[in-house]
Amino acid sequence: MADHHDGESGGGTVGTAVEKTVPKDSAPGTAVVVADRVENPGFPPFRARVGDKFPAKQREAEKRVSLLFILSIVGTVAAITAYIIFPITPGDMLSVRLNNLFLGIGMTLALLGIGIGAVHWSKSLMNGHDLVEMRHGTRGSDETRAAAVEIFRLGNEESGFGRRTLIRNTLIGALVVTPLPAIVLFRDLAPAADPVAGLKHTLWAKDTRLTRDPSGTPIKASDVTLGSVFHVIPEGLNDATDKLEQKAKAAVLLMRMKPEDLHPSAGRENWAYDGIVAYSKICTHVGCPVALYEQQTHHLLCPCHQSQFDITHEAEVIFGPAKRPLPQLPITIDADGYLIARSDFTEPVGPSFWERTL
Ligand code: FES
Repeated sequence: MADHHDGESGGGTVGTAVEKTVPKDSAPGTAVVVADRVENPGFPPFRARVGDKFPAKQREAEKRVSLLFILSIVGTVAAITAYIIFPITPGDMLSVRLNNLFLGIGMTLALLGIGIGAVHWSKSLMNGHDLVEMRHGTRGSDETRAAAVEIFRLGNEESGFGRRTLIRNTLIGALVVTPLPAIVLFRDLAPAADPVAGLKHTLWAKDTRLTRDPSGTPIKASDVTLGSVFHVIPEGLNDATDKLEQKAKAAVLLMRMKPEDLHPSAGRENWAYDGIVAYSKICTHVGCPVALYEQQTHHLLCPCHQSQFDITHEAEVIFGPAKRPLPQLPITIDADGYLIARSDFTEPVGPSFWERTL
């Protein structure tokens, strides 16, 4: 191993006390006068490492570094295995602890193996001489670029990156497999069921009663007076296990106006009952609840970004960033006079998503 240490000459040019005078062409107030009066102590005496004297010790160090990188690979595989063997069961804290413990041990080995291996490599095998790197301007000259290439070449030569293929290959192997636990973990965040099917359907179905939000009491058509507005959920929603997810799709606003004020398109003539109409409460822009009703104009206003929907014309957008009307829930009454749905919404509620075709 070459010894590049030169304590006397190396220290002779660094930090020597320098008096700088203000250049004549400097702008007033911008020139800096530097007087570095700290003596450069120079480099400490070079101490040869055991590996510098005995090549056999270098080979031992090389094996230790490779072992650490292999340990990192083992840790990565162990982390993935632990994540699969110890799945988290909702409500079971022991399963959470076991999962976190063994996943953590695996990932710790993976990261420590690379980190300690790299430090051990540099401490025991790379050249151990001191270096002086003079400060230079940020503008790169041809000489600077040539020097950079030379630095890379020297780095490669001195670290043995190209020469010590066992270390290099095990390091590359460790770096390649280290991100694998992240891929496994993030993939597991994806929903188990197809989300598109879930977005296309709500709890509403034929003959489902319209009930008050949040009490769940059914609503008679006679309860809905002219100009009134009701916040509505489907009957049975309060008993659903995924109540909040279902409510986020099925929430509805119910309003009554004069039947002659409505302008239904062909095929929708029987979607309202005696001037009572029901529309999705989920804004088609980015999904805020559209909860502000202007009784005089029959406009619904979304408070998030001020989209406005005209209820007299099937909730068409008359202002704001929303691009689609609010979906209408077809309604009628049952034999007891309670309002019921004729079907689910005929299109997905809420904002657009990639797979939406309507
Ligand atoms: S979410 Fe309603 S206007 Fe943006």
